[in-house]
Amino acid sequence: MIEQLKKIQTEATHEISAVEDLGSLEDLRVKYLGRSGLLSQLIKQIGSLPADEKPLIGKLTNETKGLLEALWQEKLAQLKQKAAEQGDEKIDLTLPAYSFFVGHKHPITQIMEEACSIFTRLGFSIAEGPEVESDYYNFQALNFPKEHPARDMHDSFYISDDVLLRTHTSPVQVRIMEKSRPPIRIIAPGKVYRRDADITHSPMFHQIEGLLVDTSSSFSDLKGILTVFVHQMFDPQTKLRFRTSFFPFTEPSAEVDISCVMCRGKGCRVCSNSGWLEILGAGMVDPEVFKAVGYDPEKYMGFAFGMGVERITMLKYGINDIRLFYENDLRFLRQF
Ligand code: PHE
Repeated sequence: MIEQLKKIQTEATHEISAVEDLGSLEDLRVKYLGRSGLLSQLIKQIGSLPADEKPLIGKLTNETKGLLEALWQEKLAQLKQKAAEQGDEKIDLTLPAYSFFVGHKHPITQIMEEACSIFTRLGFSIAEGPEVESDYYNFQALNFPKEHPARDMHDSFYISDDVLLRTHTSPVQVRIMEKSRPPIRIIAPGKVYRRDADITHSPMFHQIEGLLVDTSSSFSDLKGILTVFVHQMFDPQTKLRFRTSFFPFTEPSAEVDISCVMCRGKGCRVCSNSGWLEILGAGMVDPEVFKAVGYDPEKYMGFAFGMGVERITMLKYGINDIRLFYENDLRFLRQF
């Protein structure tokens, strides 16, 4: 019987390693390892062996079986891999494809990036500052003295007497000027916070600040830069209008309106029939701000502007409720 076992092992090893296709491999499994295969037949005979031979033969038979099974599995894996590599696997090309949604950036992020790209092409670089800000940077250095009534408009979230969530991105102006010298050309995009919530105000929203400081920079440069921005962000037919305004950190100050993007200035519900939409605040940097950062106000001139990103996005896409931006309803977000 030992002879028989050896013979089975040699022949099976030989045949399994020579086989080239999955069908023949299955035939070999039936022939050697199947329920009525050669090994099983041998195992059945063990019962009729003399008792002292049984343990040895039993052990050898089991070893042979294990060996052949391992060989067979290995060959199976080889042949399957070969088939996959050769593309033998059957693919039903008529089955419908899986549909899936491709993710994309939030509309606010898209507009922020678009605005930043317009300004970086104009030579501005991007700056950032902290959202948790000190009273000094958010107000004092920007010429809002303590108790100044202009602070009331900012509806601040205070963390302590001297620390608050920044109410605008203008403190970045101060931080940048403190640590560098003119010429300065930066824009600072980021989150700002105010205690205000309705269909056009959110307690957290986004602004983009711009600052340019040099030995000669004028209000007409400011107008030129903003005109290029508006024409690229909306369209080249959009008109701009500067209205005098007040900010403690700019003098003179202006609010900038664009001709209504919905009705093209004819008057509609969006522009309250005025034909104009306010989109940003701007002005020439106040000498008091230069003094706070140690710049000589006789030597340097600069302009600054600040805009709300939600507002621009709402105008650009005709969105009438700011809260839609934060609800993360995919039916809304998928439209952009
Ligand atoms: N920081 C001002 C605001 O939030 C906007 C502004 C920025 C105005 C820069 C003038 C210059 O209302």
